[in-house]
Amino acid sequence: MEWLNLGVRWIHMIVGIAWIGASFYFVWLENNLNRANPREGLSGDLWAIHGGGIYHLEKYKLAPPTMPDNLHWFKWEAYWTWMSGIVLLCIVFYSNPTLYLLAPGSTLSGGEGIAIGVGALIASWFIYDLLCDSPLGKRPGLLGLVLFVLVIGACYGFSQVFSGRGAYLHTGAIIGTIMVGNVFRIIMPAQRALVAAIAENRTPDPTLPAKGLLRSRHNNYFTLPVLFIMISNHFPSTYGSQYNWLILAGIAVCAVLVRHYFNTRHNSHKFAWALPVGALGMICLAYVTGPAPMPRGPEVAKIEYQPLPGTAIGGHRADEPKPEVAPAPATPAAAPAQASNSGAVDFEKVHSVIQERCAVCHSAKPTSPLFSSAPAGIMFDTPQQIQQLAPRIQAQAVTAQIMPLGNITQMTQQERDLLGQWIDKGAQTN
Ligand code: HEC
Repeated sequence: MEWLNLGVRWIHMIVGIAWIGASFYFVWLENNLNRANPREGLSGDLWAIHGGGIYHLEKYKLAPPTMPDNLHWFKWEAYWTWMSGIVLLCIVFYSNPTLYLLAPGSTLSGGEGIAIGVGALIASWFIYDLLCDSPLGKRPGLLGLVLFVLVIGACYGFSQVFSGRGAYLHTGAIIGTIMVGNVFRIIMPAQRALVAAIAENRTPDPTLPAKGLLRSRHNNYFTLPVLFIMISNHFPSTYGSQYNWLILAGIAVCAVLVRHYFNTRHNSHKFAWALPVGALGMICLAYVTGPAPMPRGPEVAKIEYQPLPGTAIGGHRADEPKPEVAPAPATPAAAPAQASNSGAVDFEKVHSVIQERCAVCHSAKPTSPLFSSAPAGIMFDTPQQIQQLAPRIQAQAVTAQIMPLGNITQMTQQERDLLGQWIDKGAQTN
């Protein structure tokens, strides 16, 4: 599975670069055409140097008088990106829906989760297509706003049933599907009709190139948000947040601003502000998503770790009933005793939490049947390893709470607080 994942992911990235790279390049060409005194029948031309060669490109107003023998088309990059993306979705999320796709503790079955995901992908294309062909299509600005709200709404909806990662990835998959749908259903047919008209010596319908324009413009603005979603996997502070859909909305606004700046800067400097505002937006997001300060001082003493009754080290099997969480002892005597200990957290307790909740998977020899080697190379076999990994434990299990994966080992909030306290106090192992 790991190598299949690796291979498909690699292909997905390569064809994705080819697709988006070509798309960026043609937008750049369009924006940089020299339109002063073009030759008869041309809308402009452009000179460029790259890789030691000098190129001269010309754009026709509509079509050349005769068709060239060899006309290059750009479509397989898009199709392959989508196909490899769908395969990746199956490998990562659908092959193990309880672990990766569904929200921890979800009452949905894996099959239901997959049905929601696939259904949403299909439905999104038809809803999008209808909206573009509706009267709204005549008002691109408003349409753009409606699409934005719908995409973020979809992310919010996904976040109610899926894990953070599942919600983000499905939002990205919706956008990617719309983009490829635009290529497959709108842009390619329009281009084919254009070429056919030229081949048959008819005057091409001048509305044809315009038909694909709205859709390519959407694709253009979709690229940066979708690229973020594809790397978001590495950033639990985004998808792991309770407000992950709002964070995505913020990042998408910044991305669209940046794209808009690059789309318009050749013709005017009217949107020069978009770039710094986008950058500032990202800084604001970093600030508002930062972890809230941990409670300090006497607060610390109130948090007391209680081993769960009847749970052996090594974790639960997923089919075991959820153990009752022992209520935190609130005996007045316990608090002063802890407080006099300057709030330090006993490493033994931390150690047993990690053993029980994490080391089933994160060990040189995982006892979980789901993994044959330590996921992401993270191992919690020794106190030194646990100590070294403290910042990452905090990121994954305290701040974002995306580990344990699918909360399959049923970690409690108290245990997370305990880990947070321990790290906050300097992550001592003695
Ligand atoms: C069910 C198995 C499982 C359990 C239990 C589990 N993890 Fe993970 N963990 C994974 C997998 C799988 C990955 C790789 C995630 C990925 O594919 O991105 C991972 C990745 C990680 C990473 C690396 C993520 C990164 O990119 O920095 C950390 C740190 C981590 N886990 C910490 C923990 C902690 C702490 C616990 C216990 C509270 C825990 N995990 C419990 C399966 C598990």
